[in-house]
Amino acid sequence: MNPEAITRLLTSRVLGRPVQCFQEVTSTNDLVLELARAGAPEGHVIFAETQTKGRGRLGRPWVSQSGMSLTFSFLIRPPWRDTSRFSLCAAVAIARVLQRFTRKNVGIKWPNDIYIDGKKVCGVLCESSNRAMVVGVGLNIFQKEEDFEPALTGKAGSLSMYSDETIDRVSLAASLLNELDAIYDTLPGAFDNLIAECESKSVLLGREVQVDMGSKQLSGRVVGMSTEGALQVRQLSGEKATIVSGEVTCLSHS
Ligand code: BTN
Repeated sequence: MNPEAITRLLTSRVLGRPVQCFQEVTSTNDLVLELARAGAPEGHVIFAETQTKGRGRLGRPWVSQSGMSLTFSFLIRPPWRDTSRFSLCAAVAIARVLQRFTRKNVGIKWPNDIYIDGKKVCGVLCESSNRAMVVGVGLNIFQKEEDFEPALTGKAGSLSMYSDETIDRVSLAASLLNELDAIYDTLPGAFDNLIAECESKSVLLGREVQVDMGSKQLSGRVVGMSTEGALQVRQLSGEKATIVSGEVTCLSHS
């Protein structure tokens, strides 16, 4: 990936100043966190083909194969502190772009996985350090079913499985940065509308789920999302639980 080629397609105000592309790093989130701690200004974006210590939510490993994915992180320094709501907004931005690229229904599985046809194609990992926020995106593009590790069979998908057209990673990367930037530009004013859009794109709405919150589990039907971006689950007892962090498993099909 050529950073100049991506930069040429940017219409963004903040994101992509500068763009750097590497073949292999430990984790793009780690590199951008280091930049943040060193006082770098917001907007810095790092892409990598592979990561030796790529990570997902809840400390899970994240594998990117060279040439097959978009793996990147960016730095923002918002005047507000709201990592979890911003990561939902980032998921909305990505879902909008993937919908345009694939013309498929793109859904969001709370908190920030992007799904097409029941398969996860993208994950977002938002981390913060002091007032800086680092947003990492891992998007599967050219993988075929057999390219995923056995544990992900039937669960992971890639864009090329859902698009007949050739996918140009450079223009997709620029579109993602442009949309993420456009959304960032509207915050904090647009938080409520974006959370509402996230709810409308939710693959969980109305589904029976089990939620694992580490020390506690519960099950019930997803009834919505709070303006703060928490998942709302109506339990069998009738009680409504508000989940701010946890792992959700679907018990019913849509
Ligand atoms: C998840 O689905 O659990 C989130 C996955 C986030 C992966 C991306 S890839 C770029 C950035 N660097 C990392 O180490 N993780 C994120």
